[in-house]
Amino acid sequence: MLSTNDIRAKFLNFFKSKNHSIVASDSLVPKDDPTVLFTTAGMQQFKPQFLGRDLTYTRASTCQKCLRTDDLDVVGKTDFHHTFFEMLGNFSFGDYFKKEAIAWAWEFLTGELKLPKDRLWVSVYKDDEEAYGIWLNDIKQPKERIVKLGDKSNFWPSNARLNGPNGPCGPCSEIFYDYGVNPNCPNGAQCDPDCSCGRFSEVWNLVFTQFNRKDGGVLEPLPAKNIDTGMGLERLVAVVQGKKSNYETDNFTAILSVIKETVKSNSGTMT
Ligand code: ALA
Repeated sequence: MLSTNDIRAKFLNFFKSKNHSIVASDSLVPKDDPTVLFTTAGMQQFKPQFLGRDLTYTRASTCQKCLRTDDLDVVGKTDFHHTFFEMLGNFSFGDYFKKEAIAWAWEFLTGELKLPKDRLWVSVYKDDEEAYGIWLNDIKQPKERIVKLGDKSNFWPSNARLNGPNGPCGPCSEIFYDYGVNPNCPNGAQCDPDCSCGRFSEVWNLVFTQFNRKDGGVLEPLPAKNIDTGMGLERLVAVVQGKKSNYETDNFTAILSVIKETVKSNSGTMT
């Protein structure tokens, strides 16, 4: 069975073979970015590159330590959310764009990790005919498993067109793993990746960073088109290790068994 460490290494090696510079994770508390308290995504350390201010390299790949507070209310209630997590990502700064980003994501999941194709669904931004066409015609993803979603789910940052923040943004395409029909799903046969019944785990987000949002929701095209992807390592590991919950994967079971043992051995001394 592939371990979390194996899968992290496989990802970075895969993108190294596609000529990406492997860059270390940035600090969890970013030092030069006053707009955020914590690092919430792999792209944060690359803002100068996305804005065309630093072109030391045009392709990079990372495993970024992240902390998100916007999902706090669901932590402990779903199988897929935690506050701290590791995000695998590949980035293009004015280099490759949608065609390569989609093809390599598919190659990694179905070729390297051998995930069954019929378990993978994808979503695209409702007006992004280019991404839709690549999934349908190049990848041959059946249209029954391609869904078109709106600004909340398929624009990054979510709803940025309407609500901000200002800065690099764009439409995105997500890849989901289908764990099979949930008999308690309120949407029944209509269930799709936009449903939160637990059938679908959102594994990878491919963002086509092509705009700089300005005040008033103005989307100014960036000097060059970019790619920013993010894949939750713990979610991917759950899928690869055949577990329904992130908490049942090798990294978590090791921690949980130490906690269990500690609690057991101390329980006699508690008052
Ligand atoms: N930056 C994108 C995300 O965090 C990839 O989902």
